[in-house]
Amino acid sequence: MLNLDERIKLIEAEIKSFVESSTSTAAAEEFRLKFLSKKGAVSALFDEFRNAGPEEKKQYGKALNQLKQLAEAFYKEKSASEQNSAAIPAGQPDLSLPVPPDPTGNLHPLNLIKYRIIEIFEQLGFNVEDGPEVEDDWHNFSALNFPENHPAREMQDTFFVEKNPDILLRTHTSNVQIRLMEKQKPPVRSIMPGRVYRNEAISARAHCFFHQVEGLYVDKKVSFADLKQTLYHFARKMFGPDTKIRFRPSFFPFTEPSAEIDISCLICKGKGCNVCKHSGWVEIAGSGMVHPNVLKNSGVDPEQFTGFAFGMGIERITMLCFGVNDLRLFSENDVRFLRQFRSVF
Ligand code: PHE
Repeated sequence: MLNLDERIKLIEAEIKSFVESSTSTAAAEEFRLKFLSKKGAVSALFDEFRNAGPEEKKQYGKALNQLKQLAEAFYKEKSASEQNSAAIPAGQPDLSLPVPPDPTGNLHPLNLIKYRIIEIFEQLGFNVEDGPEVEDDWHNFSALNFPENHPAREMQDTFFVEKNPDILLRTHTSNVQIRLMEKQKPPVRSIMPGRVYRNEAISARAHCFFHQVEGLYVDKKVSFADLKQTLYHFARKMFGPDTKIRFRPSFFPFTEPSAEIDISCLICKGKGCNVCKHSGWVEIAGSGMVHPNVLKNSGVDPEQFTGFAFGMGIERITMLCFGVNDLRLFSENDVRFLRQFRSVF
């Protein structure tokens, strides 16, 4: 019969060869049964050790404990690698796991406001539509009833990608009105958020690109009262129940009549301050009843249908909501600025 020392060495060799040669997927469990379970080889050595004389105990105690640790370490390693290798090759991330929430990121303030605007109009039954940022003259200008010599068609005002045929970066989201009516017969009730471009000198109040949300509602018997009530509802939801709204007569080639929409200044509550230029009012959108020529140009019969449209600036609304006083902050990607919107909404 081998003595304890020899048996410890033997079992150690067995453990090592088991680990080296095992390829089976259930190897960890097999290993546990063979060595670490109550009836396993390591446990058997411990039983024997308990009955050994004090001399032997002194001599082999340490080696036996080391053997147990070795076996446990192998077992741990084996079962961990089995779990990992069940489906995924070593060294590769498990793409089936949910993405951990990133506590350091948040939506851009313009997106926060865009989603809030969408939410409010969706509650009224508007859906969201999209259109191209690189547009042709017809959809950006001609179909919208812009006369030949309108200043917005000048090189100084619009970024032309090509001249003849005129391809340009859209100057507003109103192009999507046309594209939508071309593909869909009324009723149309949509909002169309997106980026627009104008050839402007960059300052605290203007940029060569910004964002708008266009709105269009075309159906039988849509009236100016519908426009007023819709935007009144929007303003109160967006800016609070005490917000006042006014419609100021204005002009756009594609709406008749047209109105600019002002809300009572959120900063001074209408008393007059720098933001509202001491008028107590801030403009947030252009609007009006869709011009019959625009309906005709998009294949909609103006005898049967009427509609209203509006276009609001997302930057302007975001600045009002959060008290931001410089438009350039939105595109500088400075995390010290962006991070401040982490816990809004
Ligand atoms: N497109 C106009 C602008 O960019 C806004 C507008 C949209 C006005 C729809 C009336 C109707 O200024």
